[in-house]
Amino acid sequence: MTGAGGVPALSQATDKIPTYVVGLDARLSGGIPRGHIVLVGGPPGSLKSSFVYRILFHEAKERAASGLYLSMEQSRASLVAQMTSLGMEPSQAKGVHVIDVRALRREIEEVREQPRWLLGLRRQLARYKEEMGCDLIALDSLDALYALAPFESPRNEIFQFFEELRDLNATTFLVSEMPRDATRFAHFGVEEFLSDTIIHLRLREVDVGMSTSVRRYIGVVKMRGVEHDLDYFPLLVEHGTFEIVSE
Ligand SMILES: Nc1ncnc2c1ncn2[C@@H]1O[C@H](COP(=O)(O)OP(=O)(O)O)[C@@H](O)[C@H]1O
Ligand SMILES: [Mg+2]
Repeated sequence: MTGAGGVPALSQATDKIPTYVVGLDARLSGGIPRGHIVLVGGPPGSLKSSFVYRILFHEAKERAASGLYLSMEQSRASLVAQMTSLGMEPSQAKGVHVIDVRALRREIEEVREQPRWLLGLRRQLARYKEEMGCDLIALDSLDALYALAPFESPRNEIFQFFEELRDLNATTFLVSEMPRDATRFAHFGVEEFLSDTIIHLRLREVDVGMSTSVRRYIGVVKMRGVEHDLDYFPLLVEHGTFEIVSE
């Protein structure tokens, strides 16, 4: 049984976080396993931020979950305006807290030891977790975080970072900016091995008569513990609804 829009009813699949993409959740037996670290990769404009924010928004609105959205690329005002244009009014989901990069930058500047980015982020996340709890965390994007402070030893620091994320017991979304022709889902390559789920948002050019149009696709590349299709499905966005097209 599903609720409106194909989203599993509250009593069902509470061990899953729906993607809130109509048609996709049914193919994933309800969605993403709770507690996963989810890498969401794609080129600019592929709807990474919107896809991730939507999950936090609906989880807060429909299941009273608390979410922390760390927006490192876009200011809070710009993100909120974009999400409002997609039909997501912040007042409808008070459990979502959007923090932009300024607060984190302050935190990082105070840290003297290495690795500063990691320690700064850890402090920030621990503080938010204590103040308001967080069932869901979104970090948008990994690349912007990496640009904040230099790495001494990237592989070790990223490994430690994932360990610390797991200790927070949240479901975490890590946004990764991918060039269109990239074969790696994240900058250092290790992130894709450490993540439990990888969702790939793709853009593909298709010729339509005399002109060329860009279509969006969504694919689940990896999802630990779930049997899933490896197909990419066309992703349609209409009036704030996300839907896949499948045969
Ligand atoms: N109200 C809207 N309805 C449908 N699509 C929109 C709307 N607002 C923005 N978009 C689309 O969303 C894209 C940006 O999505 P975003 O989630 O920021 O992508 P990314 O984070 O991958 O760069 C824009 O390029 C535009 O095509
Ligand atoms: Mg974005």
